[in-house]
Amino acid sequence: MNALAKELSVRFPDQTEFFPKTVMALANELNISEGEAYRFVTKHPKVRRGVYNLEATILPFRELKSEEPKAVSGGVQSVMSSEIFVPDADRAYVPWGNFKDVESIIRSEIFYPTYIAGLSGNGKTLMVEQACARLGREYVRVQITPETDEDDLIGGFRLINGETVFNKGPVVKAMERGAILLIDEIDRGSNKIMCLQGVMEGKPVLIKKTGEMIRPAAGFNVFATANTKGKGSEDGRFIAATIIDEAFLERFTITMDQPYPTAAVERKIVMKHMEKFGKIDKDFANNLVSWSETIRKTFEDDGVDEVISTRRLCHIVQSYAIFDNKLKAIELCIARFDRDTKEAFLDLYTKVDSEYAGTTEAKITPTTPANPDDEIPF
Ligand SMILES: Nc1ncnc2c1ncn2[C@@H]1O[C@H](COP(=O)(O)OP(=O)(O)OP(=O)(O)O)[C@@H](O)[C@H]1O
Ligand SMILES: [Mg+2]
Repeated sequence: MNALAKELSVRFPDQTEFFPKTVMALANELNISEGEAYRFVTKHPKVRRGVYNLEATILPFRELKSEEPKAVSGGVQSVMSSEIFVPDADRAYVPWGNFKDVESIIRSEIFYPTYIAGLSGNGKTLMVEQACARLGREYVRVQITPETDEDDLIGGFRLINGETVFNKGPVVKAMERGAILLIDEIDRGSNKIMCLQGVMEGKPVLIKKTGEMIRPAAGFNVFATANTKGKGSEDGRFIAATIIDEAFLERFTITMDQPYPTAAVERKIVMKHMEKFGKIDKDFANNLVSWSETIRKTFEDDGVDEVISTRRLCHIVQSYAIFDNKLKAIELCIARFDRDTKEAFLDLYTKVDSEYAGTTEAKITPTTPANPDDEIPF
């Protein structure tokens, strides 16, 4: 849909309100289906009968165009806006659990910093992204690493066309545009992210380096995701997780716990990914979900050291679409685990899929690794 928004901003440089008909005609020229174009238009706010305001989606393209070639000279300048956008709706996304609440928070436009904690790969990041997509809201994702600092978040000086220019960071841009700021994997940061303390209060923030005061526009809000609740990882599974300053954590209004989805929801997610990759196999979907459930239960009873996440199930579906071989897909996707875990996972799979019942480990691993001496004829 980015291509469509970009084309709209070029063809209609002074227009932000559109009839779906106009956009659908343009979509036709771009080989985008009319249905998709219609859904794209109607997810925007309706201003009057049959007319929608597409400003939130097309303005970033206009700004980008006018900002890119500019020879900037001094002052507070924003060089790129490409990191702010309304995300595209993902056809394979299944809303569940906290999704409705996240949507309500965003729709309320009340500043309400929200911390979402849960195990890896259960859809935390995707949930915030897709809530923005559905509501047609701009979204900025900043990925936190131990190296992330004020320069990356708030902004810093850059040399552009021979001149030193202050480049506003994603946090400042999100504040100015009233966008949703997703601070992803916040528990991977160092104390350098403490520069966000003021931002977390929803009040105007002073950019020390330029003296400019930034006021958060209506709708600005902060979501953070993490695998831990900022107190470190008790079982050592997330060794890179850091302890977040108590005063910083205090600034989040609420914390949402995100578990793995139920079997029924996960089955839906797997089926949607099968549709996406054009390889539908209902029995395989059911077996994968029973398998991940068994593994998670075994993990809780300390029977295995790892779990299969929703993300990993989706990776298996993708691999299955490529290789057309269930066990190969599973094996490749669990190869990152140690040998014992891998064997235990494969063994558990043969217990849920009757096709492989009674198969021994020796028989189910003929697919990998490829023999380096094998010559492959072209
Ligand atoms: N509700 C869902 N609908 C469809 N796909 C999903 C859903 N939840 C998770 N997935 C799949 O799992 C993948 C991982 O999701 P996501 O990146 O949001 O997880 P996460 O919880 O943020 O993980 P991490 O803690 O490792 O960052 C997605 O890319 C998607 O393929
Ligand atoms: Mg994530």
